[in-house]
Amino acid sequence: MLNVSVFVIDTRKRCCNSLPVLPSGGGSSRQNQQPLQQPAWIGGDVDGRFFNSLTPGWLRAHMGEHILLLGAPGAGKGTQSKRLAAEFDLEHVTTGDALRANKDMDLSHMDTEFDTPRAYMDAGELVPDAVVNEIVKTALEAADGYVLDGYPRNLDQAEYLSEITDLDAAIFLDVSEEELVDRLTGRRVCDDCGANYHVEFAPPEEAGVCDECGGELIQRDDDTEETVRERLRVYRENTEPVVEHYRARGELVEVDGEGTPDEVFAEIADVVDE
Ligand code: AP5
Repeated sequence: MLNVSVFVIDTRKRCCNSLPVLPSGGGSSRQNQQPLQQPAWIGGDVDGRFFNSLTPGWLRAHMGEHILLLGAPGAGKGTQSKRLAAEFDLEHVTTGDALRANKDMDLSHMDTEFDTPRAYMDAGELVPDAVVNEIVKTALEAADGYVLDGYPRNLDQAEYLSEITDLDAAIFLDVSEEELVDRLTGRRVCDDCGANYHVEFAPPEEAGVCDECGGELIQRDDDTEETVRERLRVYRENTEPVVEHYRARGELVEVDGEGTPDEVFAEIADVVDE
């Protein structure tokens, strides 16, 4: 078993008084049909009435949604996940950011090709499942509701995910390959606060300087054209079957990811609101 205590993941703790309330007043119809994995009872006192059991619908409505955002590198998963998390009071669980925060973690004790996440990421390859599975399990256990971004990336990860959680929606952002390459090679991120820009589509007010904190904007090591092409190859080989897996089960909601960020967000928010 890996020790993942080194991973830095924002896991806001909520007590029963601050559970998120969904804007729609309930989850999707699909989620309400699914059995709860947790025991569905809580004791308490509401309006002077003691109760010791709650309906699955009430619990679902107060536990937060479980949203999966799927898409190729550059499809806009990070951009949209941040907005969704803020709008619906969900955790943003992102394996990419967690791995970047722990790029030099020593994996030499594992029987793996490279000794650090950095080596896999810089090559555009997938970090071993054992590492990312532990990141996701730890983060999801601490979250009442979440937007999952960057996982699962292969069928084994999808299988593992199904063992540790239920999903309310799997949303796929559909973007053409040439658009993906333009987005990734033009992306700039703030070295201090992580804010995301694009030299053409979402430029900062002053070139090279973050609007939010004044930090320096840099290009991610894996956003060179050569590595982007390799990431897209790895996506086609490993992650497209995951998209097909959810599609074949009738669980995939497909969204046109080529509109403006506002247009794409409006479409995704409609799905979550349903
Ligand atoms: P990760 O960081 O997850 O990268 P990715 O999946 O390749 O996705 P990106 O972050 O590059 O793109 P995005 O879809 O979030 O797009 P964004 O919103 O930033 O993973 C990096 C590496 O970590 C992997 O290669 C792998 O090595 C490892 N890893 C991660 N998870 C793993 C896992 N589960 N298993 C194994 N290894 C794992 O947008 C991109 C750009 O486009 C931005 O500049 C943005 O401003 C712009 N943009 C966004 N939306 C629009 C729009 N609608 N119109 C115009 N421009 C837009």
